This record gives sequence, C-alpha cells and structure tokens, in this order.
Amino acid sequence: MGKKDIVLTGDRPTGPLHLGHFVGSLQNRVMFQDKYTQYVMIADLQALTDNVGEPEKVRDNVLEVLLDYLSTGIDPQKTTIFIQSLIPQIAELYVLYMNLVTVNRLRRNPTVKAEIQQKGFGETVTAGFLTYPVHQAADITIVKGDIVPVGADQLPMIEQTNEIIRRFHHFYNVTIFNEVRAIVPKVGSRLPGIDGKTKMSKSLGNAIFLSDSADELARKVMGMYTDPDHIKIEDPGKIAGNVVFTYLDAFGPDKNKVQELKDHYERGGLGDVVVKKYLIDVLNDFLGPIRKRRAALQKDPKYIMDIAIKGSEKVKLVAENTMKEVREALRLNY
Ligand code: TRP
Repeated sequence: MGKKDIVLTGDRPTGPLHLGHFVGSLQNRVMFQDKYTQYVMIADLQALTDNVGEPEKVRDNVLEVLLDYLSTGIDPQKTTIFIQSLIPQIAELYVLYMNLVTVNRLRRNPTVKAEIQQKGFGETVTAGFLTYPVHQAADITIVKGDIVPVGADQLPMIEQTNEIIRRFHHFYNVTIFNEVRAIVPKVGSRLPGIDGKTKMSKSLGNAIFLSDSADELARKVMGMYTDPDHIKIEDPGKIAGNVVFTYLDAFGPDKNKVQELKDHYERGGLGDVVVKKYLIDVLNDFLGPIRKRRAALQKDPKYIMDIAIKGSEKVKLVAENTMKEVREALRLNY
C-alpha cells in the first residue's frame, strides 16, 4: 500500500471561526481526514506576530478554535491537531531557514505586503511579522507536508516554502522534503460577509460565527446586504451580489425551493424579510447540531486542551525525526 499524502493546514487563533471558515476550509478538512494523513495546527506563535500585546486573546482563542474544530467534525482520531508553540523543532527549523531567504524577497511577498499596508505597519513592521512566511515554511516542512489546502491569499506562502526547500536541497546537497502543493478551494467557496464585501472576516466585523447564538444569528441575517434597489415588495429584485441568496446557495438543503425563491424575487412580489426568515431557519438547522456539540464539549475544557497536547506530543516525534536529517545536512549533529 502506498503511503498517504501528508496534509497540513493551520489557523491563527485570533478569534472564533465563522461560516466562511466552514465553507472555505473546515468542511474540506472533514473530508480530507479520511483520505490523507492530516495535521491541523493552531498557529499561536504566528498569531502573536500581529497581536504582540495581546497574549491573553491568543491563548483564549486556542480553546475557541479547538471547539470549532471538534464541533464541526474534525475527528482527533483521524486528524492530528497540534499547537505550534509546543513544537520547538519548528522554531529551530525557522532559524535555519532564515539564511535561505532574503529580506527583499520577504518584502515582495504580496500577502505580507498587503497585510503590512492593511495593518498600517509601514516601516514599523517587526522582523517577526516580516518573516512569518519563513516560519510557515517550517510549519509545513517539519511534518514533511505534501499538500497544503489554503485560501488564494496563502499561495505566496506555498511558493516561498518551495523556494526555501529548493535552496535547502541545493546548498546542503540533500533531498529531504517534497515540493509542496497547494489546494485552493473552488471558486464560489469564498463566502462574502453579511455586508456584501467579498470576504467574511472577523476584523471586518461582517462575520457569522459558528458559535453565534440563535438570537445573534437572526440579528445578523436581518441586517444582511440584499439588493439596495429592491425597495418595495412588488419591485423586481436582483440575485447577483445579494448575500442572502449567496448563503442560501451555500447552505440551503432544498435547491428547488431556493430556485423558486430566486425566480419569485426576480419577478417581484417577494419581500426580503420572507427570504431572510427562511435563511435563518436554514442556518439554524445547519448550526443547531454544531452548537449542541460545542455546548457539550465546552463543559470539559481540560479534555479539549488535552487533545491538542496529545496531538502535539505525536507531532514532536515526527518533528524530531525531520530535524535529525536537517541537523545532519547542516553538520549540526554534535
Ligand atoms: N497563515 C495561515 C492563516 O493566516 C495560518 C497558518 C500558519 C498556516 N501556518 C500554516 C496555514 C501552515 C497553512 C500551513 O490562515
């Protein structure tokens, strides 16, 4: 039997996960865990790179993200969940990789560049933030990842990882790692925020969290962006760019019913409130079982943290094997 490909993904624990995470990554992970050897990493050190003064926030969100994983069906029997900072070998590899990448190359990384601008770092950007793609290359290669499922914004990280791997192999005349392949979820799997902006994101304040209560959910759906020209109920409405319908496409279990609603809306005579109420029902049906599992899991946070700690113990063994090869290649095997 051939060896299964190794998949590694991760999240920064900076806030609870939302419906966009579900559509763009969580549901794929649930699928991948039966097909691949899967690692999911909680990137607490990476989270600290742009939350320097907020270690408590990062710490609290480690548990939130764990609860999000487990309540959406990531199964610790099938997926190894671990915490970045518990694997010192990642930090060691990061230091060694730092010599294989230029500061100019890091400044040109389009994602880092955009983030520096967005966050207003400018010239005050820290070395830790500027070099987090190098850290990420260490995350991926420490478990010898073959596949990294990510959003399109993470493609430059994979490219940079492969450059580092090639340089490593070239300088030290070894072949330790495989080239890493990105899997980007198909177009349409990016969920817009409730304000109609192209990306659902915690920092944009337009997210529906997996942990939102039924009341919060209803309030958010009622405030959703629809068709601004659909003023009177009898006006014909537009479907394109209408977030309520985008969500119904993503979560509506009854495609015929959704199509009927669309036709009616386009003809005119269907009010936003009716469609929104239907979406609230659809999302409550979807989130109901997730909320239930979360509530049960939440009762025992120690058990939940233990899952990540046991996963980290497992990864440490894998990481140490990788580092043995790496140290040997660098003549650091004293
Ligand atoms: N940068 C990723 C994000 O912000 C999180 C992450 C850290 C990651 N290390 C990783 C993703 C390794 C994939 C592989 O979402």
